[in-house]
Amino acid sequence: MNSDTPSPITIPALLARKSRGEKIVALTAYDYLMARFLDQAGVDMVLVGDSAAMVCAGYETTLPLTMEEALYHNRMARRGVQRALLVADMPFLSYQVSVEEAMRNAGRFFKEAQVGAVKIEGGAAVVSAVKQMVQAGMPVMGHLGLTPQSVHKLGGYTVQARERIAAEQLLDDALLLQDAGIFALVLEKIPRLVAKSVTERLEIPTIGIGAGPDCDGQILVTHDMLGMFEDFKPRFVRHYASVANVIRQAIQQYGADVRAGSFPGDDESY
Ligand code: KIV
Repeated sequence: MNSDTPSPITIPALLARKSRGEKIVALTAYDYLMARFLDQAGVDMVLVGDSAAMVCAGYETTLPLTMEEALYHNRMARRGVQRALLVADMPFLSYQVSVEEAMRNAGRFFKEAQVGAVKIEGGAAVVSAVKQMVQAGMPVMGHLGLTPQSVHKLGGYTVQARERIAAEQLLDDALLLQDAGIFALVLEKIPRLVAKSVTERLEIPTIGIGAGPDCDGQILVTHDMLGMFEDFKPRFVRHYASVANVIRQAIQQYGADVRAGSFPGDDESY
């Protein structure tokens, strides 16, 4: 590392943010170029989400993403990130079958893509896997609330933990995961008051997506907030740009120039 290289964001640094009340900024990336944009813009955590299945591959859910595909996305993103913590989202069925398989697959992200952490969805059911991974030195981020890998069980992408019993269950799961050693917890699409009370009860940071403003950090799918992914727009997404329109307009202009014979011009020719 030379003196121009920014010092990387570590797990202890992220944990310290919570006690100082400093928000954690997280976004998703699936390749070198986007990961580099995020890193250059000062994002703290880059998640290589299994949302790649929907955003990059055009599937209707995150379930089809394979280990090999996830590893490829993580290796691409790795080369774009110097400062942010790179987190690999473990694909559906890469960690649920057995603790042994979960360990082997988690290990592949660290060995083959040099990630700084992995993320898995679920509560009590994944606690043994979390414990083993953390014991082996692999930092794990949890994910509760709307867990997209369980979309069929949940019956859709609806707001979770609206009822008191479900909210209490979520808090119990959060405390179990914290005891098992997770360093942060994603809370997706739950009422803001539930997210606030979980955030207050935990010592580790919560990262919200559709969970209101009281989480310790926020994450969005980058292609959503840039206005690139247009298949649907959840209420919790804010558009910071209309990149899809910019791309379409540029491509239409290119087409028009080619058809009119005005591209390439003299200075674009040899
Ligand atoms: O796959 C994903 O992008 C996620 C989110 C938390 C944004 O899990």
